Amino acid sequence: MFIKSVVPQFVKNSRGRRTIEINLKTYEGTFKCSAPSGKSTGKSEVMCWSSKGIDYSMKILNAFCKKLLGRNFIIKKVDDLNALNDLIRKFEARFGKFGGNGWYILEGAFLKAAAADCGKELWKFINDDVNHGLKPKMPMPVGNCIGGGLHSKKIKGKRPDFQEFLLIGKEKKFGRAVTKNIRAYEYAHTLLKGKERSWIIKRNDEGAWRTSLNNEDVLEIMKRVSKRYGLRFGMDVATSSFYKKGHYEYKNKELIRDKVDQIDYIGKLVRKFGLFYIEDPMAEDDFGGFKSLFNNVKKNRKKSLIVGDDLTTTNLERVQRAVRGKSINSLIIKPNQIGSILEVKQVVEYCKKNKIVMVFSHRSGETMDNILADYCVGFGGQFIKAGIHGKERLVKLKRVMDIEKSLS
Ligand code: PGA
Ligand code: ZN
Repeated sequence: MFIKSVVPQFVKNSRGRRTIEINLKTYEGTFKCSAPSGKSTGKSEVMCWSSKGIDYSMKILNAFCKKLLGRNFIIKKVDDLNALNDLIRKFEARFGKFGGNGWYILEGAFLKAAAADCGKELWKFINDDVNHGLKPKMPMPVGNCIGGGLHSKKIKGKRPDFQEFLLIGKEKKFGRAVTKNIRAYEYAHTLLKGKERSWIIKRNDEGAWRTSLNNEDVLEIMKRVSKRYGLRFGMDVATSSFYKKGHYEYKNKELIRDKVDQIDYIGKLVRKFGLFYIEDPMAEDDFGGFKSLFNNVKKNRKKSLIVGDDLTTTNLERVQRAVRGKSINSLIIKPNQIGSILEVKQVVEYCKKNKIVMVFSHRSGETMDNILADYCVGFGGQFIKAGIHGKERLVKLKRVMDIEKSLS
């Protein structure tokens, strides 16, 4: 793979904020990769850009990219990225860190080019390497239907405390599951309009409906919606945003819960509403709290997923701690949380060995890049969390649908 040119440029993400895209030219074509950014980030995530800011990341990325001109890389499998990564590490040691997103866009563009060089789609390039070419099983979509927490502005001073109320497909075909999620999302809008004035209901950062309702009222709506369309549902509690000084500070309704109350409360919600998916229900360092909640939930709902996101941050050590301690049976994989896709690969291998369910996830500030879909299918994720509404979300769902079609 001969490098004709590599140029980083600023582009805007779905929040209208600046992010960086790499444009890599080889004899096979031009390959682009741009990076998403989170808002409710975990403490253990790597910095997304340099600690000196995105402008500094751009400056050093520019200098690094110039050094790549005219080089030849042989990348026949994912681990061959090590040649690039060694160069990045050496460069970072002298000039400072690019940030996780710098790694994400360089590796992403290189992988796309490497796949083309081998005459393969990216998902297949990864699948041939990681899953020995076995026909992949399509993931199911996890879509954000109604939002609260950090991702949603308040309405009349109120919003649900939980960040995301999620619809989860249960179909043989990915495409059919996406259609159902979209219909159910529209039905949720209708139900919300019945509860508050229609002009008030707008979409949040991720395209989910905003509301002033509290968690339980939203869960009632989610239950009706899911029943009508034969879906499963759940939530991203995202406790990091309201866990303060050892307590969970609820605002809607105003209430302080300690750890035991929190386990009890979430356990009750799981039973009452039949929740299938519960992400970050406890504080991000509370491995023990996750374990207690997992035990509580397992008694009644064996198949429900207790999902780590801020708890695990796609970091192998944290994942191992959570899995060995039986704190979770599922986790979020966000490649830019950890930086390198080679570390993601190690997490994937560990999850497979330990039968941990993997949910490949977008970030709340997204771009038009659809690489997440190829990563999810290629690495064998059981779910893809990529929203329901908005062009930056749909482009990823559409990519999975295209892969599905190409396989049938
Ligand atoms: P983020 O949040 O992308 O804003 O970090 C999404 C999530 O918590 O799942
Ligand atoms: Zn989350």
